[in-house]
Amino acid sequence: MRIGLKPLTVADAARCAEIEKELFADESPWPAAGFEQEIAAEHTRYFGAWDRRELVGYAGIALMGSPTATGAATPAGESEIRTVAVVPSHQQRGIGGHLLDLLLAEAGRHGGPVFLDVRRGNEAALALYRDHGFVEVAIRPRYYQPAGADAIVMRREPAGSGDWAGGAG
Ligand SMILES: CC(C)(COP(=O)(O)OP(=O)(O)OC[C@H]1O[C@@H](n2cnc3c(N)ncnc32)[C@H](O)[C@@H]1OP(=O)(O)O)[C@@H](O)C(=O)NCCC(=O)NCCS
Repeated sequence: MRIGLKPLTVADAARCAEIEKELFADESPWPAAGFEQEIAAEHTRYFGAWDRRELVGYAGIALMGSPTATGAATPAGESEIRTVAVVPSHQQRGIGGHLLDLLLAEAGRHGGPVFLDVRRGNEAALALYRDHGFVEVAIRPRYYQPAGADAIVMRREPAGSGDWAGGAG
């Protein structure tokens, strides 16, 4: 199996919505129009994974708090992982990890910490994020509707910040 990774375009929105419906049925899956808006927004970056001509995964990040137009020195921004998803037939083959690496490279260029929400009990996603340096920082009770599951908020420090793990990592 040869997987190709590249940026998504709005033409991919319908297929993303189809995958979303399958993976997030009880968490208010985004419709195609939602993906179109997200992919087209200036402050977001979306990537897809293709197996030949079929889109089998996608991931997106929002880059926020950019420096002002005045050029004045401003604190680094922050980023928020919007989603990472891989169709069941292609999971556990490294695709989610590669998609997340692309998002983290964007966050690294942007600067500042990276945040995300993950459903409590989603062990695959929790393991993926922990492997990539995220730590749990808060709980949002009953965040996912209609299921009513809690969200775990995770944060990843900017590379080289050295203000945790004793500065050793
Ligand atoms: C979470 C998800 C994106 C992972 O994608 P994937 O392509 O299967 O992940 P990878 O193969 O790249 O695995 C990377 C790491 O994730 C973790 N992981 C992935 N699947 C796992 C599973 N079923 N159980 C435990 N850990 C798992 C492991 O730490 C793995 O590293 P390893 O292979 O060195 O053990 C995928 O399971 C998915 O799409 N789930 C449904 C949608 C979802 O929940 N998205 C996250 C929303 S917050």
